[in-house]
Amino acid sequence: MSLPDFDMVLFGGTGDLARRKLLPALFDAHRCGGMHAASRILATGSHAQTTEQYIATLEETVRPALGQAKPEDWASFVQRICYVQADARQPGNFDALAEKVHSRNPEVVVCYLATAPHLFVPICEQLHRTKLNTPNVRVVLEKPLGHDLDSNEAINAAVAQFFTEDQIYRIDHYLGKESVQNLMAIRFGNALFEPLWRREWVQDVQITIAEELGVETRGDFYDRTGALRDMVQNHLLQLLCMVAMEPPASLSEDAIRDEKIKILKALKPITPQDVAEKTVRGQYREGAIGGKPVPGYLQEQGIAPDSRTETFVAIKAEIANWRWEGVPFYLRTGKRMQSRLAEIVIHFRDVPHAIFPKPLTLSPQNRLVIQLQPEESIRLYFLAKQPGDTLELTPTSLDLDFAHSFKVRRAGAYERLLRDVIRGRLGLFVRRDEQVQAWRWVEPIIDTWDASSVPPKPYTAGTWGPAASSALMSRDGALWHEEV
Ligand code: BG6
Repeated sequence: MSLPDFDMVLFGGTGDLARRKLLPALFDAHRCGGMHAASRILATGSHAQTTEQYIATLEETVRPALGQAKPEDWASFVQRICYVQADARQPGNFDALAEKVHSRNPEVVVCYLATAPHLFVPICEQLHRTKLNTPNVRVVLEKPLGHDLDSNEAINAAVAQFFTEDQIYRIDHYLGKESVQNLMAIRFGNALFEPLWRREWVQDVQITIAEELGVETRGDFYDRTGALRDMVQNHLLQLLCMVAMEPPASLSEDAIRDEKIKILKALKPITPQDVAEKTVRGQYREGAIGGKPVPGYLQEQGIAPDSRTETFVAIKAEIANWRWEGVPFYLRTGKRMQSRLAEIVIHFRDVPHAIFPKPLTLSPQNRLVIQLQPEESIRLYFLAKQPGDTLELTPTSLDLDFAHSFKVRRAGAYERLLRDVIRGRLGLFVRRDEQVQAWRWVEPIIDTWDASSVPPKPYTAGTWGPAASSALMSRDGALWHEEV
């Protein structure tokens, strides 16, 4: 489907996110057609360089990761790119930028702020001063939006002086993943699961985002941030909302966001007294990933030698409402884990009375596994009779493997979300009140950890995290999905 004519101003155009995610996503959108011939990408950075120089760096840093990109696609893509110096401390830069945009006057202008968050407000001030905040301008704010509730509110309040809420797109790229959309389709496009999607039938829910990667080149940023702020406050809580929310009245953006905020508000607070029992924080030590040795967190570049920043978090969350009372939601994320895996597992309760011999496994027999990464799939596990002269049951599954079931290209998360911004669809973006509520919930955990003399639990790189993470589950008689 074709997109309206747009200019995308990419603040942080020389940064890591632009290189790894945004430019490849824009390339895919370009390659697959539908982009207006005149649409441009105005990449900005704080230092002076020509467009040719900028494109030459993209040749080395972006193009190799695009796989089999056809030379003609790349050549036509880079023709859309123009480099503009935009140092937030130099207003003159913004006059030149605004002149460039106003000279063409596209239907939509997207200002993507992929910079450090302390630059968000100065950039928005300049956009306002140069009249780059008219109603056709949309501003995309990358996470992390602040460091805590106060700094988040300060940024949101400042941005709100220059842009209305419907011009502000707070991005959480996990909401753009195909399987997350499919979770909505499964829940609200079918009548099948709805009667089961509640405390009477669900025993527990597990949400895992595990990465093999360490902190890479972002040590300095990561050491000030940690896994709770980097992954739980946003991605994991958003996934939890998608699993737990009530059916929205429609697909309209506020109908969905109104339901998500109810879940965030219903999360039981984790008090300082609960922290030891309901949370685990860990930090990786040297180990091996895929058979290759990797350094420990404290040996990574940019990390303080006595850092207590967590690279792993597990939390038992609970939702105080009629649907979910008593159902634990186990959340877990970590760097340098055994494998790259993002999945949501819904464990259903066992049959009330067993007439067949019980299979020799501790895990609940009926579970729905929604895998986001490395492959996107949905799998429903149940028991079936073993063929032959036996009454024994054996676990089996119904699989929906998207790559096999749908032979069409599936856009990546960033590409989908960028398309939504250009089209003005806010449904997959986070509203200000959701962000505030998510910070409110995580902040007491951060404060308690900061005040505690107990350091994060060490775990060996290439494992599933500290032993305390399994202990968190076993106290409830549960197991992480991969331990089954
Ligand atoms: C980002 C975090 O939001 O998500 C990174 O800042 C993390 O630390 C990344 O690596 C994970 O995203 P994905 O889509 O690669 O799982």
